[in-house]
Amino acid sequence: MTIPAPHGGTLVNRVLSGDEARSAEQTASNLKKAPIGERVQADLELIAIGGLSPLTGFMGQADYRAVVEEMRLANGLPWTIPVVLDVDAETGKSLENGERLALVDDGGQVAAVLTVDDVYSFDAKNEARKVYRTDEDAHPGVAAVYARGEMLVSGPVDVLRLPEHDFPELRLKPAETRAAFAEKGWQTVVGFQTRNPIHRAHEYLQKVALEIVDGLLVHPLVGATKSDDIPADVRIRCYKALLENYYPKDRTLLSLLPAAMRYAGPREAIFHALMRKNYGCSHFIVGRDHAGVGSYYGTYDAQKIFAEFDPAALGITPLMFENSFYCRACEGMASNKTCPHDGDSRVILSGTQVREMLARGEEPPHEFTRSEVARVLIESMRR
Ligand code: ADX
Ligand code: MG
Repeated sequence: MTIPAPHGGTLVNRVLSGDEARSAEQTASNLKKAPIGERVQADLELIAIGGLSPLTGFMGQADYRAVVEEMRLANGLPWTIPVVLDVDAETGKSLENGERLALVDDGGQVAAVLTVDDVYSFDAKNEARKVYRTDEDAHPGVAAVYARGEMLVSGPVDVLRLPEHDFPELRLKPAETRAAFAEKGWQTVVGFQTRNPIHRAHEYLQKVALEIVDGLLVHPLVGATKSDDIPADVRIRCYKALLENYYPKDRTLLSLLPAAMRYAGPREAIFHALMRKNYGCSHFIVGRDHAGVGSYYGTYDAQKIFAEFDPAALGITPLMFENSFYCRACEGMASNKTCPHDGDSRVILSGTQVREMLARGEEPPHEFTRSEVARVLIESMRR
């Protein structure tokens, strides 16, 4: 086994170089403008750097329909989450095929130019039911679908400038993680998605995986998350403290994924895996309730969905894990697959319990989270 080719075969790069960017910027002042929010901006960045290869732009109607209804692009490649650009009805109706549209970011800057090839309307409820398995707007991913403008615009994008972020040294592009893996001589790399601080259970999955592959890409998602998730800057301090003290430096790489969270559970697990394939991972960890929120998905639905795809077409191998915990009787991390003891021995805390302890300035049991991580979280709550 080796580092997989990008999804669809070619790593996409839609970032214009200096001269091209300058001339695109000049012509952009004469174009119609479409504002883009945080989520579309994140998708745009990912398209530009190849994280969403083979996409070269936002999806047209044929791809959108195939993705929503059949979990494939129109060309048959597995794909589970629509990647779309929404505009208001007035803008949508005014656009013509081949016209160029300037995409304007939060700061009022032209981020990219899109060459229009399709403008279409969509059925938000149907998308919600098929992609998110619910049409309730209490679901944060569904709420984001409902918040879109009335029409979708597709076409390839040319990106003038990538957004400026904190921690640029931790934001390796797919070409850069691939180069890093090659340089380290890793033939197999497991990717780990998270939107949380890394607790002992997460660490356990990663280290079990590290027993069978060459390298670990700790790849936290740092785009938009829901407001009660822990902010990325705090998480990054947790990740650094943890890796510094408990991970083998020559077998671990920390980098950030600029994607927004959809909370689409099973479908997002496939989407997360495909992005990590583009970053060069051969394996991807899927544990309990991956990318879930509330009680919308069954604990292992995000694992079961992998059976609906041809493994070769996915091109990245899921490593699936049962709910894991520290067991005082086993005196180690374990799961139902390895531990015969009952619940009393198991150190399992809810997110709410952990938040309450941290807010009181109390470190959760070290069997649940490392002290170095707890201290960062406690300190962040005092600010
Ligand atoms: S999320 O993106 O899937 O929402 P989260 O940070 O909650 O991120 O989990 C990261 C990964 O660890 C996911 O694959 C999830 O399934 C897995 N995971 C989290 N907690 C546990 C646990 N206690 N046991 C097994 N897997 C877990
Ligand atoms: Mg989770």
